Amino acid sequence: MLTLGIETSCDDTGVSVLRGEREVLCELLSSQIKDHSRFGGVIPEFAARKHLENLLPLVDAALNECGIKGSQLDLIAVTKGPGLMGSLIVGVMTARALSQAWGVPLIGVNHLEGHLFAPIVDAEDLEPPFLSLIVSGGHTEIIRVDGFGRYELLGQTRDDAAGEAYDKAARILGLKYPGGPEIERLAKTGNPHAFEFPVPLKNTDKVEFSFSGLKTALLWQVRKFENDGSEIPVNDLCASFQNAVTDALMSKVKLAVKMTGIRRVSASGGVSANGALREALSSAKEFRAWLPSKNRCTDNAIMIAMAGRNSWLRGNTGGDVLPNPSLHDLS
Ligand code: KG4
Ligand code: ZN
Repeated sequence: MLTLGIETSCDDTGVSVLRGEREVLCELLSSQIKDHSRFGGVIPEFAARKHLENLLPLVDAALNECGIKGSQLDLIAVTKGPGLMGSLIVGVMTARALSQAWGVPLIGVNHLEGHLFAPIVDAEDLEPPFLSLIVSGGHTEIIRVDGFGRYELLGQTRDDAAGEAYDKAARILGLKYPGGPEIERLAKTGNPHAFEFPVPLKNTDKVEFSFSGLKTALLWQVRKFENDGSEIPVNDLCASFQNAVTDALMSKVKLAVKMTGIRRVSASGGVSANGALREALSSAKEFRAWLPSKNRCTDNAIMIAMAGRNSWLRGNTGGDVLPNPSLHDLS
């Protein structure tokens, strides 16, 4: 079974071809990071235009690389939401047109269900039940996966997502977008205990997160240095901030493990590329962790192809695939 995956929910244009359950025939990505970084964040209108420019050439390149024609595909899987409306429209409408032109069935995929599949690409032994920590620029949540298609949201952030917190913290520190990789780079030579930032909601008995207070605490600390006229210890601030975010995520992963008794944890989304978080997850005694390779932590089309194929084989038909920026239903 050959599945074409298409991902355009935010600022990455991804196209992939999957053979069978997990054989990656081709995986292409056109990142817009450089285009958006000069604005300090993703500009939705600009992102949509870039998808429009990039998507069809990427589809052509992917099929050429695999040596197949569009009509030989068995399924097209496209991200239908959540995400930026303009970006989703480009992906969904292109996929609909290709589906009609080639006579290939189409299925819409929830982007978050895609993230659930990202660690599975590299790990044959990750099977439900497991807990999935999704940590990206738009989401911070823990999902209980009892089976594919059987998902329960255990809890999520009350305000900013973890990646958003990294991006906002980076802006406060005058670092470039996206903030996560920059903060991680500078944290390497900083002291993670130089500043004890508060870890909001750490000790509650609910799976819930809050990162906006952390960002404000960082802002006050920076202002204090500015008012004193002293040099800002950027590396120590980065290391301490990263330490607090990691602590917040780990405390709730451990709580979810305790509440459910499920001792298998996977992670996905841009923040799961963070070395400190990966180290904390991998070395935890309470559970075993499965992490995607770093290039599959961020948005990609292979996870969409895998999730779409799995959903199709579970009996979900494509129906009318429409873009939905605030899609909630995971299955
Ligand atoms: O999953 P993703 O590519 O896109 C969304 O769906 O949001 O995640 C992007 C987010 C950004 O906020 C970025 O700062 C963060 O992931 N990120 C990181 C790292 N790499 C990307 N955060 C911390 N450490 C990293 N190494
Ligand atoms: Zn994502």
